[in-house]
Amino acid sequence: MEDLKSIIRNIPDFPKKGILFKDITTLLADAKSFQRMVDLLSHRYVGEKIDKVVGVEARGFIIGAALAYKLGAGIVLVRKPGKLPSETFKKTYDLEYGTDTLEIHTDAIKKGERILIADDLLATGGTMGAVVDMVKELGGEIVECCFMAELEFLDGKKKLPEGKCFSLLKF
Ligand code: PRP
Repeated sequence: MEDLKSIIRNIPDFPKKGILFKDITTLLADAKSFQRMVDLLSHRYVGEKIDKVVGVEARGFIIGAALAYKLGAGIVLVRKPGKLPSETFKKTYDLEYGTDTLEIHTDAIKKGERILIADDLLATGGTMGAVVDMVKELGGEIVECCFMAELEFLDGKKKLPEGKCFSLLKF
């Protein structure tokens, strides 16, 4: 995993002073690294029944769509406010740098469907915690929350259901 980790670029003082931002665009743009990352993540769920993958805007869409394709599942979008056209369920949550709200279509998940939630990064866990609540609210059964990378020192896992969190790369 060290090769995949090392291709993620560190940007000092972004989006504000004192933050060392993990820029995953360098990994996504490298054909071999992107393919390897998707293969490693999806391999974990081969043989599991997964009805839908939920991807979190924006970078979670990239990971989520690739996983859904590999696993033969549907992809559901969790979006920032005002983007989804039909009836939505909203959730406001704490972010690493403030607060935000996310939305999901109320009919995107049927009761009892088995759901894998995907995002690029687990930091404070505020985002994924909110998405977990949304999926549960709609009656989905969470298989796991999976991430390309995790900032372990922020302990975001504590906001997620115990034993239902997997990150490929740990910083
Ligand atoms: C980033 C990242 C995760 C979230 C992690 O998204 O993609 O979704 O923050 O942070 P947390 O664990 O502290 O909640 P961001 O809101 O920057 O959106 P983007 O993908 O649209 O840039």
